[in-house]
Amino acid sequence: MQVSLGDKDRVFILTGAGISAESGIPTFRDAGGLWRNYRIEEVASPVAWRRDPRLVWNFYSMRRRVAAEAKPHAGHVALAELERQLGDRLFLCTQNVDDLHEQAGSQRVVHMHGELFKSRCDSCMKAPFDDRNVYELPNALPRCGCGGKIRPHICWFGEIPFAMDRIALELEQCTVFVAVGTSGVVQPAASFVAACRERARTFYAGPEPPANEAAFDQWFPGKAAEVLPSLFVVA
Ligand code: OAD
Repeated sequence: MQVSLGDKDRVFILTGAGISAESGIPTFRDAGGLWRNYRIEEVASPVAWRRDPRLVWNFYSMRRRVAAEAKPHAGHVALAELERQLGDRLFLCTQNVDDLHEQAGSQRVVHMHGELFKSRCDSCMKAPFDDRNVYELPNALPRCGCGGKIRPHICWFGEIPFAMDRIALELEQCTVFVAVGTSGVVQPAASFVAACRERARTFYAGPEPPANEAAFDQWFPGKAAEVLPSLFVVA
């Protein structure tokens, strides 16, 4: 079975940690996932940042090291190719903070949970900037010229994801919704499929059914690198 796309279709793709798994980046909730080894409230929340910014930077430095080594696989490449075919009729929204979609050639990726290789000031409005440095203990914390602390450009628990207005618009317009490699438990992304399923055909690709399985018309079981290259048929 495949997803056939006509010339009027608008496709919303939501990717999660599972699409990066075969590139060597751990997911969050699987066995060996990041949240099995780290406590969210100690490394990924505004409270954690206020309490111990060095510990937070240690966590994101570790993740920068891992992601810096990762290369995209055939699943990422398939989505970049689909973008070349559909142009702006494809909207690629990722919960992932790595840059594997971009490395594969996707041009217009929306990172709703931020970007691992960007940082910003926690005090002033200076725009986020490219930053591949690691800030590990016992090194000093990076500082902004204004005196504020430089933090990862990441949406932490308790913060509002990025680009939500644009995402809402794309959910209203899409006729096909495909989620890949996401457990369907983290809001608001877990509700995207329910928001568009009245009008859109909805599909999930991944090795296990997600928690929000009932909202999908069909599940394509398998790993992203195996399923995505042959998933779409463009008319
Ligand atoms: P999870 O770790 O919750 O779920 C990963 C999903 O990927 C699971 O459903 C797996 O079955 C699936 N999976 C594993 N290997 C796969 C493969 N090779 N191909 C396809 N799927 C595979 O990750 P997310 O749902 O992305 O947020 O997590 C959502 C958010 O929770 C993350 O963005 C992060 C986390 O806390 C923040 O840090 C703000």
